[in-house]
Amino acid sequence: MSTSDLPRFPDGFLWGTATASYQIEGAVDADGRGPSIWDTFSHTPGAVAGDDTGDVACDHYHRYREDVALMKDLGVGAYRFSIAWPRILPHGKGSVNEAGLDFYRRLVDELLDNGITPMATLYHWDLPQPLEDAGGWRVRDTAERFAEYAAVTHAALGDRVPYWITLNEPFCSAFIGYAEGRHAPGAREGHGALAAAHHLLVGHGLAVAAMRDQRHGTERFGITLNMNHVTPATDAPADVAAAGRAELLSNRVFSDPLLGGSYPVGEHALWGRISDFSFRRDDDLAVITQPLDFLGVNNYFPEYAKDAPSQEPDPRRRVATDIGVVDNPPAHLPRTAMPWPVEADGLRRLLVWLRDTYPGLPPVYVTENGSAYPDSLVDGAVDDPDRIAYLDGHLRAVRAAIDDGVDVRGYFCWSMMDNFEWAYGYAKRFGLVYVDYATQQRIPKSSFRWYQGVVSR
Ligand code: NOJ
Repeated sequence: MSTSDLPRFPDGFLWGTATASYQIEGAVDADGRGPSIWDTFSHTPGAVAGDDTGDVACDHYHRYREDVALMKDLGVGAYRFSIAWPRILPHGKGSVNEAGLDFYRRLVDELLDNGITPMATLYHWDLPQPLEDAGGWRVRDTAERFAEYAAVTHAALGDRVPYWITLNEPFCSAFIGYAEGRHAPGAREGHGALAAAHHLLVGHGLAVAAMRDQRHGTERFGITLNMNHVTPATDAPADVAAAGRAELLSNRVFSDPLLGGSYPVGEHALWGRISDFSFRRDDDLAVITQPLDFLGVNNYFPEYAKDAPSQEPDPRRRVATDIGVVDNPPAHLPRTAMPWPVEADGLRRLLVWLRDTYPGLPPVYVTENGSAYPDSLVDGAVDDPDRIAYLDGHLRAVRAAIDDGVDVRGYFCWSMMDNFEWAYGYAKRFGLVYVDYATQQRIPKSSFRWYQGVVSR
């Protein structure tokens, strides 16, 4: 597919790609790194497909120069990566491991030497295991430790990293990690997951305040939320109500406090069986609603909500995501390998929804968007036309949102390279670059060449 008829983007639009520490770095014992909840979880038999772990992953910790050279060849202006908390503070708190910071100093220098702007995420799910042992995100102490870690890391790198993202997808940390148990730490709870969601928000606010206080210059502070545009599956009143519940859980739990200054209206109907909200303190909202310099949005698919009574009759055993809704997208939509439905206009609708719902919305960066397909290496090459079609459609959707008046400043393709796709292990490939895990050889896919054409126009 040629890039020649793709609409043009505004001058200064930031083109990038993204990764995350545990998904690519490997080297889990190197230079004093401590264990994280993902080390523990991935080593739990049956937790991850194929019992894959991030022990080696893409060995990016040792191969980062080669990977930055690939980014330079790709021509992107920016690279979004995450910093592993257990490399900086192996026990989650206390003494700082300079050797861990040094890795990110080397990476950032390498990016800058190659003309690539670094965008750092502080928390992409690798919580130090000792903090989980002390209660994890269920307890307020973790939020306070997170702010300390943010301050230490920002003090070391803030002079060279202009974009700082506190949390990646707190929805997944709270609800997939503490309610559904499909992610580390593998808990299945109601109350614990809601407490985790709240403490993640508090941690974000404390971290932004701490970093802003010690700002080096013009660096910008934001957060990345995974969000979906939600449509009722039918016009039936029960499905319309289900869509309201789904929108609350998928988006508003985080976006209302962060962008609207309040907890979501109607949330108690959703959590009816959970009545203890003592984890919220009176002044928390003021902490959470620190002004954001930008909002990062990760989006992969839209949601179509259908009313579906809970399968768990005992309300005390229901996990926090059991809100009587199933996702029921139109059958004609194609699917990726996840198998997520593909509908690019869902991204445009989501961006417009954000603009319409939150007056004063800060500039938005699409910090992740992309797709997994069953790529294979044939005669030394990987041809991935489905991924190119996916990206083409979603870029047009972003451009259409800009035309609709949404202030979108950049787009980061997930992912720079194939990597450890959490509970799916290495079986799902999202990369622009194919990784042959047996040899660690990197092979740019045809989508890499296509995206090269997009970013160079
Ligand atoms: C969201 C997450 O931030 C990232 O880690 C993950 O690999 C992609 N989505 C794809 O599932």
